[in-house]
Amino acid sequence: MKAISIGLLGLGTVGSGVVQIIKNHQDKLMHQVGCPVTIKKILVQNLIKTRPVEIEAGLLTNNADDILLDEEIDVVIEVMGGIDATKDYLITALRQGKHVVTANKDLMALHGSELLTVASEYGCDLFYEASVAGGIPILRSLVDGLASDRVTQMMGIVNGTTNYILTKMSNEGRSYDEVLKEAQALGFAEADPTSDVEGLDAARKMAILATLGFSMHIDLEDVKVKGISGVTEDDIRYGKQLGYTMKLIGYAHREGEKVEVSVAPTFLSDNHPLASVQNEYNAVYVYGEAVGETMFYGPGAGSLPTATSIVSDLVGVVKNLRLGVNGKSAVTPQYPKQLKDDNE
Ligand code: NDP
Ligand code: HSE
Repeated sequence: MKAISIGLLGLGTVGSGVVQIIKNHQDKLMHQVGCPVTIKKILVQNLIKTRPVEIEAGLLTNNADDILLDEEIDVVIEVMGGIDATKDYLITALRQGKHVVTANKDLMALHGSELLTVASEYGCDLFYEASVAGGIPILRSLVDGLASDRVTQMMGIVNGTTNYILTKMSNEGRSYDEVLKEAQALGFAEADPTSDVEGLDAARKMAILATLGFSMHIDLEDVKVKGISGVTEDDIRYGKQLGYTMKLIGYAHREGEKVEVSVAPTFLSDNHPLASVQNEYNAVYVYGEAVGETMFYGPGAGSLPTATSIVSDLVGVVKNLRLGVNGKSAVTPQYPKQLKDDNE
């Protein structure tokens, strides 16, 4: 099989991790997919900025068409963020027959159905494991690992930035503003951290999780959201005195066809397993009628953990290429409406 050629949209926290993993794990990738994987072009805004990873001369561009219209590029990896312009880029890429891997939960929670429809029309894969819970392979676990079960409830911590802030405020008595700046410097926060601290990032992830877990489309606007920007150092201290830890908890419950999804700061008893999830780590409980309780835990944000999910998606794309089944894989947030209608 010929080498797989990648176009990377974005070279920030996550994009740099992708470059590192593709470079440092080339032997593992060769073993997995049976051919070399190379990055042909990288889209950035600023061509002269110093990068945390070494980039060969000529690889950077600020013209998206250099990637989207390049016939030699097989897979576009989108790690630039944003919604409208990014959606247009991905639709162009899919129409050009390129497979897409993205970490963009903003885009997938809002326009996932449309993008997946385009992907399947053009026989392309569109994978987005990194969009929820960074390095934890939770989407594939829901769709493949629990394929035979009926998931009834999911509950957990799905935003690394707010968990980092709450952990540092609680354990070290530090101020909200100071710790938020630290989370930004570490690359956990979104470009505009409002979506982290106001709970919107977690709401987007819960919408994706609930859609996949419950096999029905969940609209973002149906998720009730409250963030942590109103939480004070006193709230955390008083809770602590009584044996409670504050966490931003995402919750999704299904009873029959009735679904409730929410995100809110919640006091958990100190001995609750989610109370011990520290820093940028995420954890999600998934309850299935047959399997009972399962828990997924790991780094929910950051360069290499997130890039691991992305490059694993890339491996999935290449394996599908070899089997000739691109565009037919199951990880889709637009669960067949039919499935819901059948149950009605
Ligand atoms: P960064 O802000 O660190 O990086 C964004 C990159 O995209 C930069 O290289 C930037 O270029 C480039 N870029 C942004 N807009 C444009 C544009 N209009 N045209 C060309 N290039 C552009 O973001 P992250 O790496 O943190 O996040 C990227 C995506 O991954 C987001 O969707 C985010 O939600 C998601 N994600 C992030 C995680 C994390 O831990 N950070 C974890 C999971 C998902 P330049 O460098 O020149 O400014
Ligand atoms: N800003 C996000 C978070 C990145 O903190 O969880 C990972 O999706």
